[in-house]
Amino acid sequence: MGEPSAVFFDDDEIFADALTLYFTDYEPESCFVAECENRVIGYLLGAKDTKGMDKISAGKITLPLFMKALRRGTLFHKRNLEFLFQVFLSLVKGEFKAPVFSKDYPATFHINIIQEYRSGGIGSELINAYLDYLKAEAIKGVHFATISEKASQFFKKQNFQLLFQGKRSYFRYFLGKDIPVYIYGMRILEGSR
Ligand SMILES: CC(C)(COP(=O)(O)OP(=O)(O)OC[C@H]1O[C@@H](n2cnc3c(N)ncnc32)[C@H](O)[C@@H]1OP(=O)(O)O)[C@@H](O)C(=O)NCCC(=O)NCCS
Repeated sequence: MGEPSAVFFDDDEIFADALTLYFTDYEPESCFVAECENRVIGYLLGAKDTKGMDKISAGKITLPLFMKALRRGTLFHKRNLEFLFQVFLSLVKGEFKAPVFSKDYPATFHINIIQEYRSGGIGSELINAYLDYLKAEAIKGVHFATISEKASQFFKKQNFQLLFQGKRSYFRYFLGKDIPVYIYGMRILEGSR
């Protein structure tokens, strides 16, 4: 939701690995950064094939990451245990269930701009660069999930369509309410892979 993860998870490195390791280590050619005076101020991490990404994540990333978290003691911090337990409860309640969009919208991405550079057109430029890249690679569509209401407004302006809306309860223990989850998509090329 655009805020640092430290408020609910007490190990930046493990959290970043969980969200970004596939993109940076297995598909860097689909990743873009925005720079200002030699400093990275924003990124878009992409994957052309969500199914392939899930396969690599399950086979090569999840277990080593779990072991790393064990070695670092991450899984024994009270804050982290609370968060993981709440995510587990959400999972059991079926809140992660959603239609599968990877056939018509095979690609996906994450995007984030450093706070003081937001609303300056950088997000739009990163999205345009990524869409041009996907078009050149003949990918027929892209989809992603977001839990941010604010970011939803941005994605609507970029002509993404809302494909699915649900809710999740795993932040209720400190926000006092459920959060929405939105899945957005865009068709890029008809008749491509
Ligand atoms: C969402 C995000 C990527 C947008 O990038 P940005 O560089 O701030 O957006 P831009 O300046 O390119 O904005 C493009 C348009 O979207 C609108 N927009 C951007 N952020 C908005 C917001 N929070 N609410 C409403 N509209 C918004 C802008 O007004 C602009 O409209 P305009 O073209 O008519 O002027 C960025 O704000 C961000 O990193 N947020 C935190 C992380 C996040 O939420 N990531 C997405 C989760 S998947």
